[in-house]
Amino acid sequence: MVSMDQTALRPATETLHAAELAKLEQADKGRRPPGWRLSARAVRSFVLGDPALGISRKFYGDDALVERAIVSLMGEQGLLLVGEPGTAKSMLSELLAAAVTGSTRLVVQGSAGTMEEHLRYGWNYALLIAEGPSEKALVPSPVLQAMRGGLVMRIEELTRCPPEIQDGLISILSEKMIAIPELGDGAIVRAAPGFNIIGTANLRDRGVSEMSSALKRRFNFETVHPITDPAFERELIERRLADRLAPSGIKPDMSEAALGILVSCFQDLRAGRTAEGVTLQKPTAVMSTAEAVNVAHAAALEAAYLGDGRVTGAHLARQIGGIVMKDDPEDGRKFKSYVDHIVKDRARSGSDWRSFYEAARALRLD
Ligand SMILES: Nc1ncnc2c1ncn2[C@@H]1O[C@H](COP(=O)(O)OP(=O)(O)OP(=O)(O)O)[C@@H](O)[C@H]1O
Ligand SMILES: [Mg+2]
Repeated sequence: MVSMDQTALRPATETLHAAELAKLEQADKGRRPPGWRLSARAVRSFVLGDPALGISRKFYGDDALVERAIVSLMGEQGLLLVGEPGTAKSMLSELLAAAVTGSTRLVVQGSAGTMEEHLRYGWNYALLIAEGPSEKALVPSPVLQAMRGGLVMRIEELTRCPPEIQDGLISILSEKMIAIPELGDGAIVRAAPGFNIIGTANLRDRGVSEMSSALKRRFNFETVHPITDPAFERELIERRLADRLAPSGIKPDMSEAALGILVSCFQDLRAGRTAEGVTLQKPTAVMSTAEAVNVAHAAALEAAYLGDGRVTGAHLARQIGGIVMKDDPEDGRKFKSYVDHIVKDRARSGSDWRSFYEAARALRLD
């Protein structure tokens, strides 16, 4: 069953933004591509925001990429969003699917265990044995359902699927049909207009380079980069923090200064260079915006439940320390050097950087 529950830990995109989608549909005068619920312009507004209509921005950083992605979905090829972890590839694929087809439920979560039936069809074996092959005994994959309905479906972590399973997509994407020989000669499902696939793939995982070139040609690749504009990153963290805390009734109490520390720390370490132009040793840990949101959230929870509610530099330092130590012990030393050189100087400028500095110095980083 599809959950329409607004109170679920993570409601579906179409549930979360149902009011905005309805508003866009009502106001939509643009031309809709075959099978689409909204015009391409309205899809763009849904993802990038439209203040005049009261539609919030959901994806930050690269508007042109979003436009190319929408165009790609109208065309013959699939869309493959590739990039570092935590760059909102999955989020963007959900936003696009929700806007184009009104639903994000057609998804295959790619893994080493993904099998052909997850991309084509399987059988209800009790019915198959009792009655023989029939439409009733057929268990359609999300791909088959999307073909029938002319819908956009998603494949998460495409490159984690075994290569021979990935290659099954080549014919699906070029011929736009799936044959079901068990149902008789000529039993073929042909994709209705509107059918397309959005894949996501993580550049840190094994795989994008190992995808067969035949499959690569059937996808338009779009690389999603981390947010480089500090103002955008700030706005995003603030919004996501408020969303995350809303169910527990906590109002975020994070000062401009604390938010500034979080953003500059992430941007410095991600780029291997401070805003003032000092070169740093870059940790291998993923300093994504998604991790920055996690840091803000955990710091706010600690402040709310174990402190006086106000997020301080010290809360942030402890959480960032945990993120930096995730991958490689060498990263601890790199963070320590950042603290000893850059943060130390900044600690003279105000109490928030000072509390960050003192808490970071107290961490075991090697
Ligand atoms: N450019 C961005 N615009 C909006 N939100 C972003 C952006 N970059 C990161 N985020 C935040 O990161 C969160 C996680 O993103 P998501 O899970 O979609 O990343 P991903 O690229 O699919 O990561 P992974 O490769 O680990 O699956 C989003 O929910 C959002 O809060
Ligand atoms: Mg993802």
